[in-house]
Amino acid sequence: MPNKPTTAVILGTGLGRMAEKIEQPLFIPYSSIPNFPVSTVEGHSGQLIFGKLGGKDIMAMDGRFHYYEGYNMKEVTFPIRVMYELGIKTLLASNAAGGTNPSFRIGDIMIITDHINYMPENPLHGPNIPTGPRFPDMTEVYDPDLIDLADVIASENKIKLKHGVYLATQGPTYETPAEYRMFAHWGADAVGMSTVPEVIVAHHCGMRCFGVSIITDLGLNGKIIKVTHEDVQKAASAAQPRMAVLLEEIIRRS
Ligand code: HPA
Repeated sequence: MPNKPTTAVILGTGLGRMAEKIEQPLFIPYSSIPNFPVSTVEGHSGQLIFGKLGGKDIMAMDGRFHYYEGYNMKEVTFPIRVMYELGIKTLLASNAAGGTNPSFRIGDIMIITDHINYMPENPLHGPNIPTGPRFPDMTEVYDPDLIDLADVIASENKIKLKHGVYLATQGPTYETPAEYRMFAHWGADAVGMSTVPEVIVAHHCGMRCFGVSIITDLGLNGKIIKVTHEDVQKAASAAQPRMAVLLEEIIRRS
């Protein structure tokens, strides 16, 4: 390993090009790491990258593992266990999500302030791995200092940020209008198919967690339009420059 990172970044849908910003990169394909699952979804290439971003040593996951691909929760969160063993203390996770908050627009960036785990299994199911307690407290999973820092960076750079609750489904279906309505009613501002398992394990490992969603489509009551993976990737790519500034500056200053 060329460096000793304490921050890890998960590059979600459409953010793969941020990988190009990592200086002095060392690429380690998932396929070359024993026991590492291999990413299958289009638009996710599947490698760890060690290098510098925002002037700091970092480790990045270029492509993540989703439950809908057929992995179990232990596999989905295996990279977080590896991060912990490597000494990672801060996890920055990004994703693409559908907005259920009527004030949201396509292309908005939403800081995740809390989540709803609507996946079929908790990644901590099974014997407790003693990186944390059997029954972890979940009152403050998303680090308030990192959220405040993101707000400061966003206002300095004239980036509009939303805050909200992210609900994770198992996918791979997007939501029916009735499901979007139900999730909004439950208090979700955005819906996606990732992040929550990784954050639960990272939190259990004592990491500071920060999550951010690009709103790539809208599931608003009465205004739902059909969505494809291509639409999601396109909207996520359009937000990439703003996301890059945000993540790079958070790394620099945290
Ligand atoms: N629903 C679930 N996952 C998603 C969505 C959505 O609308 N958009 C991007 N990922």
